[in-house]
Amino acid sequence: MDKIQFKVNGEEYRVGCEISSNETLLDYVRERLELRGTKYMCREAGCGACIVSVKRPNQQPYAVNACMIPVAACHGLEITTIEAVGNKKTGYHKLQTTLAENNGTQCGHCSPGWVMAMYSLLQTKPDRTMLDIEQSLSSNICRCTGYRPILQAFKKFAKDAPKTDDIIDIEDLSKCNISRTSCKESCSDDEDGWCVVHESDVDDRRTALKLKDGRYWYRVGQIEDVFEVLKDKGDDSYMLVAGNTAKGVYPINEYPRILIDVNGISELKGYTIDQNLIVGAGSTLTEFMNILKKVSDVEYFGYLLKLYDHLEKVAHLPVRNIGTIAGNLKIKHEHNWFASDVYLLLETVGAQVTVVRPNNVKQTVSLQEFLKLNLKGAIILHVVLPPLNDEYKLVTFKIMPRRINAHAIINAGFLFKLSKFNIVSDARVVFGGLSPSFTRAYKTERYLLGKDLFTNETLQGTLKVLDDELVVEERLPEPGVEYRRQTSLALFYKALMTLCPESKILPRYRSGAIKLHDTRPVSQARQFYKTDSSIYPVNQPIPKIDALYQCSGEAFYSEDLPSQPREVFAAFALTTVGTGEIVSIDAKNALSQPGVIAFYTAKDIPGVNTFTPNTSLFPSNEEVLCDGTVKYFNQPFGIIVADTTHIAERAAKLVKVEYKNVKKPIINTREAIKDLKRVVKYKSVTATDRGKDVYKVIKNGNTMFGQFHFPLENIVSVIHPTEEGLKVYTGSHFVDGVHIALSRALNIDQNRIDIHVRRVGGSYGLKISRNNQSAVACGLVVQKLNRPCRFIQSLTSTTKSLGKKLSSVTNFELGVNKSGVIQYMNYNFYLDYGSNFNEYIISELIIESFFNCYDKSRWNYNGFDVKTDLPKNTWFRAPGTFEAVSHAELIMEQIAYELSLDPIAVRLNNLDRDKYADIEEMYKKLRKDAEYDKRRSAVNKYNKENRWKKRGLRFSFFKWTVTPIGNFNVLVSVFKGDGTVVISHGGIEIGQGINTKAAQVCAYYLQIPIEKIQVKGMDTNIAPNSDETAGSLASQNVAVGVQKCCEILLKRLEPFKKKMVNATWEEIVKAAYLAGVDLQAQSHVSVNDITPYPYVVFGVALAEVEIDVLTGELEILRADIFEDVGKSVSPEIDVGQVQGAFIMGVGYWTSERLTYADTGELLTNRTWNLHVPLCTDIPQDFRVYFRENSYSYPAILGAKAVGEPPLCMSICVALAIREAISEARSDSGIPKSQWFPIEGPSTVDVIALSTATKKEQFKFC
Ligand SMILES: Cc1cc2nc3c(=O)[nH]c(=O)nc-3n(C[C@H](O)[C@H](O)[C@H](O)COP(=O)(O)OP(=O)(O)OC[C@H]3O[C@@H](n4cnc5c(N)ncnc54)[C@H](O)[C@@H]3O)c2cc1C
Ligand code: FES
Ligand code: FES
Repeated sequence: MDKIQFKVNGEEYRVGCEISSNETLLDYVRERLELRGTKYMCREAGCGACIVSVKRPNQQPYAVNACMIPVAACHGLEITTIEAVGNKKTGYHKLQTTLAENNGTQCGHCSPGWVMAMYSLLQTKPDRTMLDIEQSLSSNICRCTGYRPILQAFKKFAKDAPKTDDIIDIEDLSKCNISRTSCKESCSDDEDGWCVVHESDVDDRRTALKLKDGRYWYRVGQIEDVFEVLKDKGDDSYMLVAGNTAKGVYPINEYPRILIDVNGISELKGYTIDQNLIVGAGSTLTEFMNILKKVSDVEYFGYLLKLYDHLEKVAHLPVRNIGTIAGNLKIKHEHNWFASDVYLLLETVGAQVTVVRPNNVKQTVSLQEFLKLNLKGAIILHVVLPPLNDEYKLVTFKIMPRRINAHAIINAGFLFKLSKFNIVSDARVVFGGLSPSFTRAYKTERYLLGKDLFTNETLQGTLKVLDDELVVEERLPEPGVEYRRQTSLALFYKALMTLCPESKILPRYRSGAIKLHDTRPVSQARQFYKTDSSIYPVNQPIPKIDALYQCSGEAFYSEDLPSQPREVFAAFALTTVGTGEIVSIDAKNALSQPGVIAFYTAKDIPGVNTFTPNTSLFPSNEEVLCDGTVKYFNQPFGIIVADTTHIAERAAKLVKVEYKNVKKPIINTREAIKDLKRVVKYKSVTATDRGKDVYKVIKNGNTMFGQFHFPLENIVSVIHPTEEGLKVYTGSHFVDGVHIALSRALNIDQNRIDIHVRRVGGSYGLKISRNNQSAVACGLVVQKLNRPCRFIQSLTSTTKSLGKKLSSVTNFELGVNKSGVIQYMNYNFYLDYGSNFNEYIISELIIESFFNCYDKSRWNYNGFDVKTDLPKNTWFRAPGTFEAVSHAELIMEQIAYELSLDPIAVRLNNLDRDKYADIEEMYKKLRKDAEYDKRRSAVNKYNKENRWKKRGLRFSFFKWTVTPIGNFNVLVSVFKGDGTVVISHGGIEIGQGINTKAAQVCAYYLQIPIEKIQVKGMDTNIAPNSDETAGSLASQNVAVGVQKCCEILLKRLEPFKKKMVNATWEEIVKAAYLAGVDLQAQSHVSVNDITPYPYVVFGVALAEVEIDVLTGELEILRADIFEDVGKSVSPEIDVGQVQGAFIMGVGYWTSERLTYADTGELLTNRTWNLHVPLCTDIPQDFRVYFRENSYSYPAILGAKAVGEPPLCMSICVALAIREAISEARSDSGIPKSQWFPIEGPSTVDVIALSTATKKEQFKFC
């Protein structure tokens, strides 16, 4: 047999030698089947965008990451993609409509993945609780919505969901998507539906394929087959393929020569119990968990439930659905550093591993011995778990950078055999994540023998031994040695607290035993706003007009353009030094690889080697390809063109470069500002007043670091040659910038380049200018080869080579009176642009907000722009304002700490009441609505009563001054046939709802149903010269343009309306057309149209958090965000903007740390090590309030900007964390008035170390 067969959406496919080893199911459905509804981003099982549902014969459907599964491993699978779940032709699935109706989409690039994750979840088990649903969706990232609306939508499908009118019948949801009949547990006999492929059909003792890339693929049915293949073909280069998910942990650049799919080997599955529990090592982690649950009923196996609970924290459901025990152990075997949870659990309970070799030679060894085995030619057969009687007490921990779906920073397992009197007769103390060699604390185990486990003496004695014994090594980007050592000790203490009878523990210490994240309940959220139905559809809460297309995968993004004949793919070759000179480039090896077509360097660029447009925002050029002087690590210096992206990316790494004058790059802003050559003064603002009542002088400075935007759509351009030039599809929201850049670099007229952008799948500022670089590179390839080119910049290429949020540093000296009122302030503010000063408007935005809402008359401000040897930093939601507001809020907080004042009082005492009195009013309202006083007392009481858990409750204030930007053309066309309307405009739908708002405004003015209006993508032929969609203002500007067009049209239609009494819109339109009226109106909105309407956005937010002092883990208990959005054009969309921006801020302040090597290389460059918040990281109680009776100007319909400002309020989370830390410090003997530095996000290590906890403080009573 030389084909493998599987079904996609009910249709059968057979593949063989035309596929390559690295071709995944994702590639197959998108590129070969052109089913582009399945999206992707990370290609490492880290984002969930690519989730599809699969089913094996006689099994239930389950979710998988299509980016993990090789097509060759799909034999016998029934695959369902988003296209078959629901679409406009066959009707939408209830999950899709519910997600859309609940505004669960913004940019929409994550939406098909969410639907498929939830769809699979319900297919597997329809009756789920809300908590279960919420916790099962940690496989998916949404960077836009803040998760609240997605959870709200999907929790409606829970059995315990509150009953409302839109109750969903769970029975309906278990229908097979093809047959639409009910799918019960085993549907293998159902010939009409999912289950046409029977096991007998796919019975393939041995399938052998020679793949396109020369690899051999075998699918085998028995263990013996594996050995036969290896005997026949040699074992010099082979891999057993189970779930293939290990590549999500350690990426595979090239597969070995022989690939043996072991999924069909039944001997590797299932379990038996002799004395021990023997589990097939080929069991997936989901199967393993099911076995553990089942067998936990058997005597002496009750402990298995604890393993189950721990395994729930491993990866996420789709990975657990295919990743196997053996695969996990093998990773640990190959990479000893890997903090495998499976290894940890098995080692803790004293399990063993059985491997089998040819001739059925079996070897059963301990986990430690397993690590030393030579596994060449061996198969991991079983894991053997022992029975443990009631004398054994087991506790395990996993400390992660966020609540779930992250690898362990440290994991630990403790097993004690205790006599009746708590005397230890056996102990196993196991750690992961500390160093490659250290997993068992043998000395500590021995020390414990014969001791009473629950005395302070044993505890302290053991901690000393353990501290001595631990081998902890530095390993960037993981948290440092100090944290991992300290927390290992703390986990030992925590384990003992968990097991110790409560009566022996001082009540204040008891909270130390609690695993903070396990206490998280199902989240809740409320939104408070009023609407005015007299102006509907403006101000009406409606779903996004394209939400259903997004939820069904029908929404088009640039990379969804079908493949073109002769299409080529490109990738950047990146420098591997941070600064230096390129002496020579040698691409011979890369060019000799099969499938590689061409290689280009700066010399090949016919025009100016820049990707920036020469507009006022971009005074200097930024190279497309390094011209010889390297400006930062991973700067693109060449373009490899190949038959596939994979080949191009692999070949790009083979290009050799010789460098000279390599120097250590300066990547730290504080270090850079010492070098005057790197610092340019931007502007100063001089104080106009100085108070004399100086009670205290405070000198300090704070640092804020960068943040990666993390859009779910990669940076993509697809460009085709046309008769006169180029047709460009790109994910940009500054299309004019791409247009000019292409023209300049390729030396062709702008009118020969047509650019189309239907929508952008998330950007948050990144794709204003940073996508230009690969767009220009893509255009160059097309120009050179006269072939279509697709340039998809991978997540790692993007994170490594492109700029991010600007880091910033402040130095200040201030004098305050006893009430904290600033008497004078000398304030230096440094903004780190990376390697180039373009887009300096960010510095200008700081001038508007360095004082936030406080009285600036006594602030002497000096703003500086700084250069470092990093990629040029760029716009990031609320650029400049976020940094300015946050630094100012930190100053207010420091004053409060140092003077032991209430931080609210300090804020109010410094508030500029002449200009920003609204904030006080809003603060008072939120204080009441959020029940601050009651909660303040509760938090104080909690902190007094608990030593190891602390809470914080903090406000943040903010104001945001609108800076008019944006020139846009708007075209509104009415069709004579049916009166339907099309809007085209120069703004870009990036998820902020610009198109929905345009349609609402149009429907309002024309007085027609919104359903009659379509909003099309941006096209340079219709809306040339459009400015960036940025600054939260494009929606407003485009609305003004739509309004202008409607007024023109209404004026033209007015005579007909008057004449035709009671005529319908359609009749009036037709009559006007027949009378020769132009049914198309065009308008142009410039900065001049907006400048007359200045306004300020106000906001107040309150966050309550809880920290685990021992581990640094964090839960956000509640957030209340009160924003003045004016009269919102579309309140539900604006609520989404507020929540999404706030959660992006939560990520910034809590988990998204960028870690660089000294070389300037970004080490946190993938989903494996860069942790954005997931749906269980959001506040447990998440409330948003819009200010009532707020109105800006009639010309802009009373609305205010929304998208960026809420990010600025998220600092309240950081301030609340600081309060909780300060409470813990106080218990450690450090006065609360002592300010302490926290630079960057309050990650678990930062929190734990800042509490200044010492092991000597660990006690029972
Ligand atoms: C996003 C993500 C998050 C993760 N999070 C965690 C986590 O939190 N904790 C944790 O512990 N792990 C985590 N993992 C690791 C995960 O558990 C493993 O990737 C998975 O178990 C590997 O199994 P697999 O079947 O996919 O292995 P594969 O990728 O198929 O194979 C991996 C290796 O094992 C070998 N192999 C497979 N089967 C056998 C066998 N029977 N005998 C001998 N060799 C064999 C293969 O040849 C290969 O070398 C995560 C992985 C991902 C992708
Ligand atoms: S693309 Fe598959 S999980 Fe991200
Ligand atoms: S809507 Fe989820 S990432 Fe944009």
